Amino acid sequence: MTGLQAIRADLLDFTAEPAWGDATDAAAGVRWRPDHWLLVGADGRIAGVQREDPGPGVQRHDQRGRLLLPGFIDTHVHSPQVPVLASYGTALLDWLDTYTFPSETAWADPAVAQRGTALFLDALLAHGTTAAVVFPTVHKGSAAALFEGATARGMRVIGGKVLMDRHAPEGLRDTVAEAERDCIDLIARWHGRGRCSYALTVRFAPTSTPAQLAMAGALCRADPSLYMQTHVAENRDEVRWVAELFPQARSYLAVYDDAGLLHPRSVLAHGIWLDADDRARLAATGAHVAHCPTSNLFLGSGLYGWRAASAAGHATSLASDVGGGTSLSLLRNAAAAYTVQALQGERLTAWRALHTATRGAAQALQLGHEIGALEPGLVADFTLWDWTAGPLDAERQRVARGLHEKVFAWMTLADERHLAATWVAGRALYTRRSTA
Ligand code: GUN
Ligand code: ZN
Repeated sequence: MTGLQAIRADLLDFTAEPAWGDATDAAAGVRWRPDHWLLVGADGRIAGVQREDPGPGVQRHDQRGRLLLPGFIDTHVHSPQVPVLASYGTALLDWLDTYTFPSETAWADPAVAQRGTALFLDALLAHGTTAAVVFPTVHKGSAAALFEGATARGMRVIGGKVLMDRHAPEGLRDTVAEAERDCIDLIARWHGRGRCSYALTVRFAPTSTPAQLAMAGALCRADPSLYMQTHVAENRDEVRWVAELFPQARSYLAVYDDAGLLHPRSVLAHGIWLDADDRARLAATGAHVAHCPTSNLFLGSGLYGWRAASAAGHATSLASDVGGGTSLSLLRNAAAAYTVQALQGERLTAWRALHTATRGAAQALQLGHEIGALEPGLVADFTLWDWTAGPLDAERQRVARGLHEKVFAWMTLADERHLAATWVAGRALYTRRSTA
């Protein structure tokens, strides 16, 4: 044996961003390699892709008839919010006060954070997500739990302790000095260790004082390899509140810009209520928006202007935003993203959606050299999917003409029940029980 493994399946990934609205089978950037072998080295990286059987010296996994994709990258998700999934009857600010903040206080206990993080990371894998940009809670131990849990699984994560020093309940607030100390400690311990990166994690402008935003901006300036994540312009009441709290800022986004928080490793969730100047600033700084369609629909926040974002030249990635979002599945979120565009008279192709959930996200996160595609040298993070999981989608697939129609119907109808296996760094970490 050579230490090589080989997986035989239908390989789909992307070499470039497919053009908006191009639903043809020959769309540029789509790489379709049916019935190929993905070779995985003992180092957990992709060693090659070939049509020929690699022979008996290689450990072979025959997954013929299954779809093999790069692992999904969820660019905005909250590890402690599984308990608030599907909470009834509120929009953003009430939802935070009624459900989310009270629930997050439980993570002050490191044992609770560790248990919740394990459940969360295993659930990501069971939904086909191999990399994530994560909000834990304000508690230092919640960030440590995230990095420890990801390291134990070999998963790529970006995260950091949440910064919030005002407008939050007792037990969920830090101070500038305490937060700075915790960030510095966590950065020293985790940033760049294995597959972990640290993100200065500003919850959103209303829950940080100007002094705390300035502290986060200074840490970003001191080390440009750090990420920054936050929420922006999600909900109209929130936007009005930010205008009251920061009367000198030109816009909500400008609050972050003025604090030095926009740079090529900045991930801003939602970005629904942005204007043309904001979009131009995102493009100029290299920051990007994590689009969270199931969250935006569920909380009634609004419709993301993906086409305008694209025209302005900033990237968009795809995210679940659980627990505001209703599913960790980026397939369900892709289907919701299609709906959000349709409500605005736009059409999101399967190519653009799946590119965004894989290579597009990797590039927006400056991680294109590590994840997002099925290319030699990249880490072998990938997923194996069934095309169908019952008679209805089987019938839909039977009549589908052409590749885009087939993949679009799959993307729209499939979910975690279609997932057969999730591999991380060359190891199958999740295998559906019935096919094990
Ligand atoms: N804005 C501030 N905090 C949150 C959160 O936890 N979820 C969402 N969707 N928006 C937020
Ligand atoms: Zn969020």
